Amino acid sequence: MDSILVKGNGPLNGEIPIAGAKNACLTLMPATLLSEEPLTLTNAPRLSDIKTMTQLLQSLGSEVSALSDGQVLAMSSHNIDNHVADYEIVRKMRASNLVLGPMLARLGHAVVSLPGGCAIGARPMDLHIYGLEKLGAEIELKDGYLHAKAPRGLKGAEMELRFASVGATENILMAATLAKGTTVINNAAREPEIVDLADCLRAMGAQIEGDGSPTIVVQGVDRLKGATHPVVTDRIELGTYMLAPVIAGGEVELLGGRIDLIGAFCEKLDAAGVSIEETARGLKVARKNGRVKAVDVVTAPFPGFPTDLQAQMMALMCTAEGTSVLEEKIFENRFMHAPELGRMGANIEVSGGTATVHGVEKLKGAPVMATDLRASVSLILAGLAAEGETLVNRVYHLDRGYERLVRKLTGVGALVERVTGT
Ligand code: UD1
Repeated sequence: MDSILVKGNGPLNGEIPIAGAKNACLTLMPATLLSEEPLTLTNAPRLSDIKTMTQLLQSLGSEVSALSDGQVLAMSSHNIDNHVADYEIVRKMRASNLVLGPMLARLGHAVVSLPGGCAIGARPMDLHIYGLEKLGAEIELKDGYLHAKAPRGLKGAEMELRFASVGATENILMAATLAKGTTVINNAAREPEIVDLADCLRAMGAQIEGDGSPTIVVQGVDRLKGATHPVVTDRIELGTYMLAPVIAGGEVELLGGRIDLIGAFCEKLDAAGVSIEETARGLKVARKNGRVKAVDVVTAPFPGFPTDLQAQMMALMCTAEGTSVLEEKIFENRFMHAPELGRMGANIEVSGGTATVHGVEKLKGAPVMATDLRASVSLILAGLAAEGETLVNRVYHLDRGYERLVRKLTGVGALVERVTGT
């Protein structure tokens, strides 16, 4: 299994291009199932999760071709000849559950294995099921698979999600585009990836209003047509690389970066003593003077501080001046990076959903184990500023979510290399 070797050096200078968002692309791809006409996505990220979704769609009968070095995904679902999303593919990635809503809407039935994905908590699917049942679906769990059917077709309905789940909002939104009548989703997720999905669905002919607010209203249409849609910038990749010059020193421009995608994160960096400048091409980031100051963080649905940037923020707080309290409110088991950061000399106490980080002057390189996607990259960030070498094992997690990470970091002067294992 491959590892990544990071040598503490710095400062970092130059630019890093930010890719299209993994999480947006993973919900835009299943939207192909809603139409017989082709859907083409541009600005797609080159990631193993995208390959997994490609495999899943192909297993259902969709045609998916990666063009322009993987940045363009040309898809066509004129012939869906299988309605079973198999466990062998779904277990690799939770986002596979996003085929459920579109298949149900287009075919009237779908069988989807319960998902796997990052081991960061229970991550049930009750909200997806609740919303689709409100639209008239009958859903049963048998042998680890959700068996869904809509014998009389889907019908618009008003509903309220007990939690603003991103995936549930996406599944329900996609299904509602082809339901008869009006659907109102109250307490919908407001993440930029939801707005990107709504933009794409509108380009396909869907009638959607209110995306980006807590209430989304959909007027069902009889059919959707083909479209070409650019994937929105990856705000999590953006936030991650913004931290590289803050941790290691220097100044880096993040090409394609936008503050509106990660306002809450930028506010915290500002309070910690980081300079963020908007440029014609993106965002320029540098640490102002000396050590950053400790800041407290509470994760929350958008527009709050993203849970997907909590691990990376913790890596920064390890060497901040003072004590920082990080509260994880979205996933119950998302501090697995804390003991690994501890192996590098960080002083972190975890109690339930709260981590208290007492900043130390310097971290020391160590062999560490990546436990999930965002935890892996937090260890790489920590390694950038540590004394000595850090070897991050189990990097397959990173390949799921960070395209060309070694190339992007070495491009700004970091000493990072991939070590091929057995
Ligand atoms: C998406 C993102 C993930 C991010 C998360 C929160 C994708 C592919 N993944 O995941 O990177 O960390 O949003 O921003 O876009 N929940 C329920 N019942 C449900 C669904 C969710 O209780 O039916 C709970 C989950 O257990 C969790 C919380 O809601 O505690 C948030 O989950 P959700 O917003 O659904 O996250 P995902 O869509 O899985």
